[in-house]
Amino acid sequence: MNDILRIAVQKSGRLSEDSFALIKECGIDFQNGIGQLKAQATNFAAEFLLLRDDDIPGYVADGVADIGIVGENVMAEKGKNVEIMHRLGFSKCRLSIAISKNAEYHSIKDLEGKSIATSYPRILQNYLKANNVSSSIHEISGSVEIAPSIGLAEAICDLVSSGSTLFSNGLKEVETIFKSEAVLISQKNLSEGKAMLLNKLLFRIKSVQNARKNKYILLNAPKSKLEEIKRLLPGMRSPSVMELADKNWVSVHSVINENDFWNMIDALREAGAEGILVVPIEKMIL
Ligand code: PRP
Ligand code: ZN
Repeated sequence: MNDILRIAVQKSGRLSEDSFALIKECGIDFQNGIGQLKAQATNFAAEFLLLRDDDIPGYVADGVADIGIVGENVMAEKGKNVEIMHRLGFSKCRLSIAISKNAEYHSIKDLEGKSIATSYPRILQNYLKANNVSSSIHEISGSVEIAPSIGLAEAICDLVSSGSTLFSNGLKEVETIFKSEAVLISQKNLSEGKAMLLNKLLFRIKSVQNARKNKYILLNAPKSKLEEIKRLLPGMRSPSVMELADKNWVSVHSVINENDFWNMIDALREAGAEGILVVPIEKMIL
């Protein structure tokens, strides 16, 4: 079996940095020279194609690439025959309709007969149709936020992340029409060999994601408080407990979730924990 998985990644842009970081954390190395758009992994049967994000769904659907990392917004807009294999949790953003900050707005019906500039005509059209509104859509490929101020359109529909581009251009968000994050997409007819490579990659991605969500925690506790502390800590199975030189104290090791991190720390301190160390986890294989 000498299959090679061809992976399409955005060359530069909102997804690139996090995509490359994820690949690196999955233990896959590749070298690409300046301006080189194809790179072979040195320690995994994979080859990377560095592309414009808008081209990725099409390349994957056509089988030029086997899989790709792309924004769900681009995937939905292109409407290509690809499958989402995994949500990657980064590059979260939304596609929203915005109008001049001084304009009045009550509901989506206010957009009836108005002109809207966007790079996402397909998603926008579907949304308007679902709401029984007809507007005229002006497709433009970039700098969409400028459209209202130069009289090109009365509203825009574009990606919003921090909201600062809207703010700087005197616009306000009035409808969120699509929520997006980076996703791993695949063509639908992978060979058996390539499907195996994809599974191997997905396994690594999940291990990296689990590690990012969790922290390893070490603490000392008086033996008398051990039961209370064990009840607080989940751990992978149950926390590890080790005797200390001082027989009245134990050391407890466990894994806690980032979401309830500070609440957990407070509760542990109240329960008598001391010398709490929190350590990042590099990989987490469940
Ligand atoms: C997007 C979008 C907005 C901006 C919003 O552009 O077109 O202009 O980001 O981000 P903000 O809410 O944080 O200001 P992007 O950087 O993806 O470039 P592109 O439109 O050329 O793909
Ligand atoms: Zn783009």
